[in-house]
Order: sequence, then structure tokens, then C-alpha cells
Amino acid sequence: TGPNLFGARRNSRGWDLTDDADLADIAAARAPHEATLFDARPRLAGPVAGGARIDIRNPATGAHVGNLLPAAAPDVETALSAARIWDAAAPERAEILRRAADLYEAEFGPIFALLAREAGKSQSDAVAELREAVDFLRYYATGTETLTAPPRGLFVCISPWNFPLAIFSGQIAAALAAGNAVIAKPAEQTPLIATLAVDLLHRAGVPQTALQLLPGDGTVGAALTRDARVNGVAFTGSTETALKIRAAMADHLDPTAPLIAETGGLNAMLVDSTALPEQAVRDILASSFQSAGQRCSALRCLYVQEDIAPHLLDMLAGAMDELVLGDPWHLTTDIGPVIDAEAQAGIRAHIDTARAEGRVVKELAAPEIGTFIAPTVIRVKGIAQMQREIFGPVLHVATFKASEIDRVIDAVNATGFGLTFGLHTRIDDRVQRIVERLHVGNTYVNRNQIGAVVGSQPFGGEGLSGTGPKAGGPEYLTRFTATPVSTVST
Ligand code: NAD
Ligand code: ALA
Repeated sequence: TGPNLFGARRNSRGWDLTDDADLADIAAARAPHEATLFDARPRLAGPVAGGARIDIRNPATGAHVGNLLPAAAPDVETALSAARIWDAAAPERAEILRRAADLYEAEFGPIFALLAREAGKSQSDAVAELREAVDFLRYYATGTETLTAPPRGLFVCISPWNFPLAIFSGQIAAALAAGNAVIAKPAEQTPLIATLAVDLLHRAGVPQTALQLLPGDGTVGAALTRDARVNGVAFTGSTETALKIRAAMADHLDPTAPLIAETGGLNAMLVDSTALPEQAVRDILASSFQSAGQRCSALRCLYVQEDIAPHLLDMLAGAMDELVLGDPWHLTTDIGPVIDAEAQAGIRAHIDTARAEGRVVKELAAPEIGTFIAPTVIRVKGIAQMQREIFGPVLHVATFKASEIDRVIDAVNATGFGLTFGLHTRIDDRVQRIVERLHVGNTYVNRNQIGAVVGSQPFGGEGLSGTGPKAGGPEYLTRFTATPVSTVST
């Protein structure tokens, strides 16, 4: 996985989904968990109160996957008062985080089962997600070896449902690697996998007082972020929620408490007339529809040079017809459901408006049951016409003339978001010129624009897309440490 920014580190294991032996391995490990009812509840260093029980359902089938006992107000107080920094020496913390990574790999059966059944992830997405989680654990474990500054104290880690294992574990691993206490608040849609992950971290040796779990909705996150005992927040989710958290933290007694926010994007790709069409189509398809478009990095607005647009869009439509939509439990499924009925309704409303305006140029058929959105292509004049991130398998397409490239880049910058950008061209000077003009965190040339790799492609955006430092990069851990404020001279 490319250069290793922190010295020796073992890469996560992979599964080759074209290999019959690996497929049989996955099927056998998942099989006992096909109908298991999983359990999610607060993991506290103290008694659990809990609220009213909630059913967690499979977004592809509606089937019952497990039960959530959400955190209640007394649980928030118990977690805040029981939290203690992790005072083990750095080598011991590193060893425990590496042991957790090994446990994640050993427990791939229930993890793959839950990624499909709770989060609607296809098998290839589930493999990538487990690998990213393991890479985060090992990468930040290695990072402890070069840290000299002390922990900040108590970190609240708030994560989204779209990477319910990788982002959830990455935030926690970084905060723990630096020696902080952590209270983790997973997304309300994916508490089962979060509980499984925390149990594995505890089994590896992370103390209960150093890592507690408070599953529940945004009100739990809001209660935590306004508490003055919290010394920092690591947040990944929507830009809108990040702004609310920043406002809540403004009332903190400690004005230096950091907010590390990784948020949404309005990501574009530019394909010029020198691009290789087969390669561009493959990468457009992956960038916009893989994970049902539910990646912050996903392509939302494609700019195709006018003279190749009819041919390229024809090829794209043909390639879309080959996509297999369905229950991600089946290993052949390419595209699973969107996360829930609320997400489905919001995306449908967007497509319906475009359809009424005659701008839908390609649409597949979605399965009748479950919360599916069929991959859809919508014509737009430019990215300025898109007012918000549509978090699903919807691609917007605009055309441009060669003389308009600077204007396209200025329009992308003007959205205020700055997460990913894709570029397909065979003109080297053009790459340089565009990269210099663009304000985005991650640019991808002649490839897809999703799937950043820990330690090789640190990931994060600027502007409305995040505060930095980039996750999976060499500066990330330092934000979880305190800067000594006084110096002594004799
Ligand atoms: P969200 O903002 O709705 O929720 C994220 C988390 O915040 C959840 O745990 C939620 O319960 C919690 N939350 C909600 N309100 C809160 C409040 N007032 N105070 C504290 N916590 C609160 O986002 P989502 O729908 O779960 O995730 C999708 C979004 O995440 C998209 O916008 C996507 O682009 C973004 N995302 C960004 C990255 C990145 O690395 N930049 C990665 C993944 C997802
Ligand atoms: N890190 C994830 C990606 O690159 C969000 O797709």
C-alpha cells in the first residue's frame, strides 16, 4: 500500500474476491451470523441505565438484525465521570492496538455479516472497510513511537454510518494511541458493529475507563460536546452537524479544545477529450455508484468535454446496465441499498424534481423491497446548480469546451467544499495547472476518486469539507496531544 510514513507496519490481510478459496472462506465464516440477533448497548465503566429498546433492521430486506439499548441521560453522566486517560506507556498502548487489529482480522465472519446486514455493504466494500480499520489501528499504533507530547485528556469521537467500522475505529485508535480517554458515539443507524468493535478493543486490553461507548442519536452527541469536561472532539459526518458541534464547543471552559471535523463534499471529475474512454467510464462508475454513492469522496458532478460527451455517456449508460443491485448478502451484488427510508426519500425527491424538469438521462430499476435507489444520471449546467451533497448513487453531468477549463475549476472552488477531485487527461501540463488552481484535499488523476489508503494517501478536505489534519497521515495524531504551554529556563 505505498510508502510507509511511520516506519515498519504490517499491512492488513486481503481477500481476493475472484478466488474460489477466498470466497468459500468468507461464506463459511459469515454463515453462522446470517440470522443472529446482535446486541448493542452502552459499554460503560459503571452501571448502565439505557433508554427504550430500538430494533435495528437490514436496509436491504427489512429483516430484524439486532436490538439497541440506547444511552440515556444518566449514561452520559456516568461515562463523563468514569473516564480516565490511558496511562499505560506508549509501547504497551501500541501493542494493545496491534492486538486489536489482529482480533478484527480473526473475527472477519461476524464483521462481514454485520457490514452487509446492518450497513448494507457489498462484499468488496466490506473487505475494503475491514482492511481500512485494521490499517488505522496498526498505523496509529506505530505513530505512538514518535509521539513525545502528552494526551489532552478526554476525547469524544462521533462517527457516521457510512464507514461504521473504519472511521469509527480510526478516530478511537488515534485518540487512544495518544493516551487519551475516549467516549465513542457511533451513528444511530449502525450501533451493532460499533458494539462489536468496542468489545474487541476491550478484549485486546484497552481499559474500560479509557474507552466507553454511548450508542444513541444526535442528542447523545450534543450532550457530550457541550460538556466542559471534554478536551477534544473528533467528528466525521455532515457539514451541518460539524457546525452545530462547533457552536456547542464555543461554550466550553477550555477554549483550546480542538474540533477535528471531516465532513461532506460536492466532488467533481473532469474528463477531457484526450482521456481513454474505457478507463474513464470504469472510474466514473466506481466513483459515483460504488457503496451506492454513500461515500464523502464520491463523484457528484462529472464534467465531460463537449466533443466526446455523446460517445462517453453512451458507454457509461451501457456499463451501468451491467450493475447488479440487490441484497449485499449475495456475493455477486455490486450495489446495495441506501442506509434508511429517510435517506431514500430525500434522494428520491431530488431525482423526482430532475425528472419533472426533463433532466434524467439514465436510470436503472431498483428492487421493490428495501431502501434502494437505482443508479441515476441527471443533466446539469454545472456544479453551481447543485445546492447540496446528494448522498446516494446519483451522478450529475455537465459538458465544457476546452477554453472553459479554468472556469470549471473556479466553479468547483466556489462551492466552498473541497474534498476530492478526479481528472482524466493525457496532457501532463493540464494536470499541473488544474492542481495548482484547485482547492481540494485529495485529487485523483486517471483513476477513480474513492478509497484513500491509510499511510499512503492521507484523506481529508478543506473549506466546508473539514478542518484537517488528514486521517491516515503523519500529522493526525499530533492533534490528539497537548502542546506544552509553559517552558522552564534555569
Ligand atoms: P450526520 O452529521 O447526520 O451524523 C454524524 C454523527 O453525528 C452521528 O453519529 C450523529 O448521531 C451525530 N450527531 C448528529 N447531530 C449531532 C449533534 N447536534 N451533536 C453531536 N453529534 C451529532 O452524518 P451522517 O449522515 O451519519 O454521515 C454522512 C455524512 O458524513 C455525509 O455528509 C458525508 O459526506 C460525511 N462523511 C465525511 C467523511 C470525511 O472523511 N470527510 C467520511 C464519511 C462521511
Ligand atoms: N476514505 C474514504 C474514501 O476515500 C472516505 O472513499
